Formats: sequence, C-alpha cells, structure tokens
Amino acid sequence: MLAAFADTSMIHAHSSPNIALIKYWGNRNNEWRLPAADSVSMVLDFPTVRVAIELAEKISVQSYDHDGVEKPQSDASIARLEKHYALSKEFLRTIGRDEELPENVSIVIHSGVPPAIGIASSAAVFSCLAEAYGALVKGDALSRKEISILGRLGAGSGARNSFGGYVALENHGEGIGSAYGRQIASEQDWMLHDIILVPDQKEKKVGSTEGHAKAATSPLFAKRLNEIPRRMQECISALETKDFEKLRKVSEEDALEMHRVMQTQTPSLQYLSNATHRIIRDIERLRKSDKLNVLYTMDAGPTVHLICTGDSLAAVVAFAEAQKDCIIFKAKTGGASHLS
Ligand code: DP6
Repeated sequence: MLAAFADTSMIHAHSSPNIALIKYWGNRNNEWRLPAADSVSMVLDFPTVRVAIELAEKISVQSYDHDGVEKPQSDASIARLEKHYALSKEFLRTIGRDEELPENVSIVIHSGVPPAIGIASSAAVFSCLAEAYGALVKGDALSRKEISILGRLGAGSGARNSFGGYVALENHGEGIGSAYGRQIASEQDWMLHDIILVPDQKEKKVGSTEGHAKAATSPLFAKRLNEIPRRMQECISALETKDFEKLRKVSEEDALEMHRVMQTQTPSLQYLSNATHRIIRDIERLRKSDKLNVLYTMDAGPTVHLICTGDSLAAVVAFAEAQKDCIIFKAKTGGASHLS
C-alpha cells in the first residue's frame, strides 16, 4: 500500500474557527453528522489551527497547544480522528475515489484554539484535516463542496470553513454527502469583527457531539426546526445587504433559542454561566446608550462573541478589556481553510 503513495510528502493545511449566526443543533443522522436544519456562520481569521499529515504504516496523532506543548491525546479523541478518516473514505467511495486515499496517515496538529470552551476548536481542526486529505487524494483536486463534506464528517460545523466569509451549511437530499457549505458573501464583501470574551477556561463536561444526539429530547426542538427556514432567509438577506440591525435581531433570537433547547433537553445542558448573562446585560445597555453596532452570540460554552462593525470596534474592545477575569481574542471575518 505504502509504495503506491510513496510520492506523497508532507502536506500542510491551515484553518480557523467559525462562529454560527444561525446555529446548528441536532442531527438527522448522527453517524454522518447530517444536520437536522441548515445553519450559517462567519469564518474567523483567528485563532488558527495548522495540521501536517503524511503517509504512514498506521494512523498516529500528535497534538500541540498554542505554546507548542504536546498535549496527550485521549483514546476518545484518537478514535474520533480515526473515525473521521474512515468516514472520509466512505464518502470518497460514493464518488468512486476511495482508492485514491491511502490506508493510514500520521497527523500532527498545532492548535491555537483552546478546546471545548465555545470557540469551535473541532470545526477548525476537522476543516483543516479535510483540506489536507483533499490534497492527499491522488487524482484531480476535490471541489470545495467535497472538501466541505469531508470537514462535516469530523465536526458538523467544520463544513462551514471550506469557503471564506459567510457560509451556509445546507441540506440536499439523502446520503453521506447530502449536506455541505455554500458561500453567502466573502470577507471582502463585509468585514466584521468578533471580540471573543472567554470568562471560563474549564473544558465543558458535555461536548457538542453528545449534545446534538439528545437535541430532539427537548420539547422545543421541533418548533425550532420550523423557525430555521425563516431565520436562514433573514440572515442570508442581512448578510447580502449588510444590514447589521437585521443580522443582530435574527442571530440573537436564534442563539438564545438554541440555548433554551439545550437547557430543556435530557440531560439538560447549561453552557451559559452567570458571567455570560452579565456580559449580555451590560453590552445590551452599552449598545443602546452609545448606539453601537454589536451583537452577541454564544456556542456550546460560556464564551460570548461580540460581533461588531468597524465603527463600533474601539468601544467594544474597551468594553471587553474592562471585563474582569476574561481572556479576550480579537478576530475578524476570515478566509477559507487552505493548504499552506
Ligand atoms: C453550538 O460542529 O461542534 O457550535 O459535529 O459534534 O463536533 P460536532 O458538532 P459541532 O456543533 C456546533 C454546535 C454549535 C453551533 C454551530 O456552530 O452552529
């Protein structure tokens, strides 16, 4: 097997997190990470993840944090990476190309994203791996849609990094390849900023994968699914017309509702903390008094993303820096995952 791929040298890829504006929560197929509803997000330019992969006799994983310190990999995270590779092959089989991917690879991950605190570390890692696997495939380059599918098979939201700017993850029929990203607008079309406030660096106890699988136990889940098509339309239209107020309204409505679903599913998931609620209250007050274009949103963690336009950036950064005991990341709309 190795000999057939012996010309493959090390492949490097680069990606970053994305922050959902209409959230993905719950799957129609957990195994293939096919979402129950469509979603849309903004790709961020920071923090970044880099991977290097190479052909190997057996799959191996090394992972380093932002200080370059090697992090021991749990059995669960190795199993997830192995599963992603197997699913990538399964998808490639449906387009007659699984033989072009080698049996095994060695994976080295350098992640600047703290894991499991609501900054989409898994989207960044798996979209990065998707990019690298795409380059490992021997024949013609895979399309961006196919790279997006590979990303989704590792982390559902990872499908939204294979394009830059603002990206929808949409469902199209059945099968392992039936949900993938589509670019709504590029980072050049509309540059927004995301000031990320991390009040708590403890890793969450229940990750998104487990949470998605229980979403349908919430009595609010079905209603949420009914609301998503309208919200998608409003959000996409706001992004296309750069209507910040419209974007703010629909994305805050959706984020708060996703958290109500999380809280009412069994077992209940309480990702938001007192600090989250305080930050939301204070930013609502400030944006009213100072007429700021800023919206808040939270993924699966207490972390608050304050997304704002350039003219409100200085005030939002000052607000963030005045918060006690918070780590701050300053990001803006970023580009697609890519080889490096
Ligand atoms: C709350 O993509 O992290 O961030 O496929 O299990 O890794 P897995 O799920 P993931 O789910 C993201 C959930 C969310 C909302 C969103 O990003 O749309």
